[in-house]
Amino acid sequence: MRTLLGVTALAALLCLAAGCGGNGGATTTNDATASAATPASAPAELKLAEVSQYDAGPRAFVGAADEADVKRGAQLFQDKGCSACHAFGRKITGPDLAGVTQRRTAAWIENQILHPDVMVKTDPISHELFAKYMLQMPKQGLTPDEARAVIAYFRHMDHEAGEAHAKEAGK
Ligand code: HEC
Repeated sequence: MRTLLGVTALAALLCLAAGCGGNGGATTTNDATASAATPASAPAELKLAEVSQYDAGPRAFVGAADEADVKRGAQLFQDKGCSACHAFGRKITGPDLAGVTQRRTAAWIENQILHPDVMVKTDPISHELFAKYMLQMPKQGLTPDEARAVIAYFRHMDHEAGEAHAKEAGK
């Protein structure tokens, strides 16, 4: 019976592919069998995780910002179009990036830069930001190395802001 159903399903699929039809009630039964067989061959779907897999550990703020990386990162931030949507200390169409290295880990930021399309579907933090800003951050085609330079630049910006605050508080 199983084989028979299999054969019928295959016939239905072939029939679908070939574009034949008009088989009345028989098609309905065959369709049901065919769709029941689909999940096994369908690619795994992207699933939203309950907890971000990139959010564990120290924030990106921790650590030194290499001067050459900072310079390169600042340039990339302009050249790769990030500055069209992001600024520091004010919101454009994307989130204000002031303090981003105090909010997120380096791994999280790197993934958001490299795979924003995947992050928005699988990472709860990115997903929430998407819901809030109602905009999908586009993939800007950076290499992992370039993404790390941009993170060094973010870190530098937050370090500078921290020093400015400390000075304010001191006077
Ligand atoms: C078209 C606008 C747009 C561009 C261009 C863009 N982003 Fe975004 N970005 C967003 C939006 C919107 C979000 C919120 C999450 C989402 O929707 O994916 C975001 C989120 C982020 C976050 C997380 C912010 C937070 O508060 O955690 C970082 C970091 C980031 N972007 C960096 C970058 C970098 C670096 C570039 C350039 C390579 C860039 N973005 C280019 C719109 C943009």
